[in-house]
Amino acid sequence: MNFQENFSLKKYNTFGIEAMAKYFATFKNVAELGECIEFVKSSALSLKPAALILGGGSNILFTKNYDGVVLKNEIAGIQQVDEDEDFVYVKAGAGESWHQLVLHCIKQNLGGVENLSLIPGSVGASPMQNIGAYGVETKDVFHSLEAYHLQEQKMVNFGIADCEFGYRESVFKGKYKNEFVITNVTFRLNKNPIVNTSYGAITQELDRMGVSTPTIQNVSQAIINIRQGKLPDPARIGNAGSFFKNPEIANAAFLKLQEKFPAIIGYDLRNGRTKLAAGWMIEKCGWKGYREGDAGCNDKQSLVLVNFGTATGDEIFALSDKIIRSVKERFGVELVREVNVV
Ligand code: EPU
Repeated sequence: MNFQENFSLKKYNTFGIEAMAKYFATFKNVAELGECIEFVKSSALSLKPAALILGGGSNILFTKNYDGVVLKNEIAGIQQVDEDEDFVYVKAGAGESWHQLVLHCIKQNLGGVENLSLIPGSVGASPMQNIGAYGVETKDVFHSLEAYHLQEQKMVNFGIADCEFGYRESVFKGKYKNEFVITNVTFRLNKNPIVNTSYGAITQELDRMGVSTPTIQNVSQAIINIRQGKLPDPARIGNAGSFFKNPEIANAAFLKLQEKFPAIIGYDLRNGRTKLAAGWMIEKCGWKGYREGDAGCNDKQSLVLVNFGTATGDEIFALSDKIIRSVKERFGVELVREVNVV
């Protein structure tokens, strides 16, 4: 394997943070991944975790150099592996771009992922944190995945129940953190797509586009328009999408907050809990459009922190700390970071 030493990760994280990896290599298949792990094991590096696996780098904040081995997943390929009366099963390499997979499905008129259009990152990250947007999550289209166990150096299959999907959560972010490398994911897509336009802004955008009977292609385009309208393009301004999760609180606590802040935004989860719009609270604390050096809070969607150029991971992290404290002070709610801080 070709390991590069003291390698800049700036181009490999969508925040555009300068951080160095002691060693860096890419792998295009499981055999190459195995070779990388052999190298890590035979070297004098007794690190925990043994290696940091990067996909699209779209959900990570580097706050320091990485004194170990960074491996970039470049396992490619998208293919139909099965079909039944209602569904087509599409298997994609974990290193494929998520949006390319979405475009592939739309082209074949396979429904289910159109609401997840334009999410930055790789296919492998989609089950890792159960990516979601506009009323749909990975778990809604997930069939199975294969992952490589780093310690035991063997492949393991995961069905939907094994992944324990939650809101931006799975076993790969939780109890199996850093234990597995997801190598490919199989999705179950609908041959007779039913569009999901229930998320407020979608119907509005479709109206604006003059579409009355939307296809999945139309829904995808509407979502691309909405996202481009308020989320900064990481190719131009460094960011990792939502920096925080939307917090969930008990309905009773929400009613109390509503008395004090009648405009507060919450979605009833129908399980006795309410999900709060963190972006609204952050905006009300005055952070929307805030900038300190090159670290800032996006001016259209406050849930997104940005790097205007040369911010360090520490600066972004410090800003996130201030935001967490002020939201806690004003609303009594503790925001939790959604990005992985390294
Ligand atoms: N809002 C504000 N001010 C803000 C931001 C939001 O008032 O600065 C309000 C909006 O007006 C809206 C509500 O908060 O009424 C919710 O905002 P939005 O629809 O933009 O979605 P979100 O809850 O802020 C979540 C996801 C996004 C996803 C969108 C759309 C999380 C952490 N974020 O954001 O996902 O694109 O819904 O489904 O759940 C990501 O995970 O990286 C991401 C971008």
